[in-house]
Amino acid sequence: MIVRPRRLRKNKIIRDMAAETRLSPSMLVYPVFIREGSNIIEDIPAMPGQKRYSPDTFPRILEEVQRAGVNSILLFGIPEHKDEFGSEAYNENGVIQQALRVGKIHFPDMCFIGDVCLCEYTSHGHCGLLKGETVDNDPTLDLLAKTALSQAQAGADIVAPSDMMDGRVAAIRAKLDGAGMDDTLIFSYAVKYASAFYGPFREAAGSAPSFGDRKSYQMDPRNVREGVREALLDIEEGADMIMVKPGLPYLDVLRAVKEASEVPVGAYCVSGEYSMIKAAAERGWLDEKRVIAESAVCLARGGADVIVSYFAPELAKMMKEGEL
Ligand code: PBG
Repeated sequence: MIVRPRRLRKNKIIRDMAAETRLSPSMLVYPVFIREGSNIIEDIPAMPGQKRYSPDTFPRILEEVQRAGVNSILLFGIPEHKDEFGSEAYNENGVIQQALRVGKIHFPDMCFIGDVCLCEYTSHGHCGLLKGETVDNDPTLDLLAKTALSQAQAGADIVAPSDMMDGRVAAIRAKLDGAGMDDTLIFSYAVKYASAFYGPFREAAGSAPSFGDRKSYQMDPRNVREGVREALLDIEEGADMIMVKPGLPYLDVLRAVKEASEVPVGAYCVSGEYSMIKAAAERGWLDEKRVIAESAVCLARGGADVIVSYFAPELAKMMKEGEL
């Protein structure tokens, strides 16, 4: 035999030299849930190891995460009061806006990304204004744009619309630019599926829809070409970066979107992916660390430039220790 592929797998140094995929902590984003109030650090039962913080305790997790080597944070807000218009989402003193100010004061060098959506803020739990039983696209756009602007003004470096309304990236870009916030980036959840993998998140954020589902605005899991179309539309409207969500079950979509796009592409390893690994590891059915590492490698191999993951601090530690 002249050709022996096994030679390239001989030892760790050679395997590392031959590796086609390399990860770095700079690609990681860590999602944090912020609940309105004070002195809150509480467990999220459906996501073992993840917690909710109030704006005043937020710096504690930031310190921990930064020490692990992660510099980018995605914020989700859980307001005290909800109404049918989701007004707390665009209140300049809303929970996310408070957290952004606190975060920026204590950690000016970290990158803060605000999730822009109304579902955590509406009494009905849908991602926009209702007209009867459906979400009314166009009147929702201004509320999303107001939300993005208030986050940018509170210190968000990046806004990340996750609502899946048509035209929201253009509306947000226009609003930001109109207020002189032209260097705020838009990291759009361009390709977001109506997925059952968001189950634990909805418990964590209290954002489950009170009736129906999100299938009339989030994408159908059967489609790939539609994902490419959504991605290209958002780029045309001004998205600086785009995201595919969920992560592992959608690697084919990630690859297709990556090949069609000329902006950085992120993959979101969502709550259900997190909790499945945690639950199996708790029972001793999986080697948690190895599965976390392999999942991240697969996302990067699939095309992810950025990985949004609840495992981000663990991943960064593994990278620093040369285990990944
Ligand atoms: C808000 C939003 C959701 C997630 C991110 N942004 C929930 C949803 O669409 O129902 C899910 C994140 C996760 O599951 O980790 N619209």
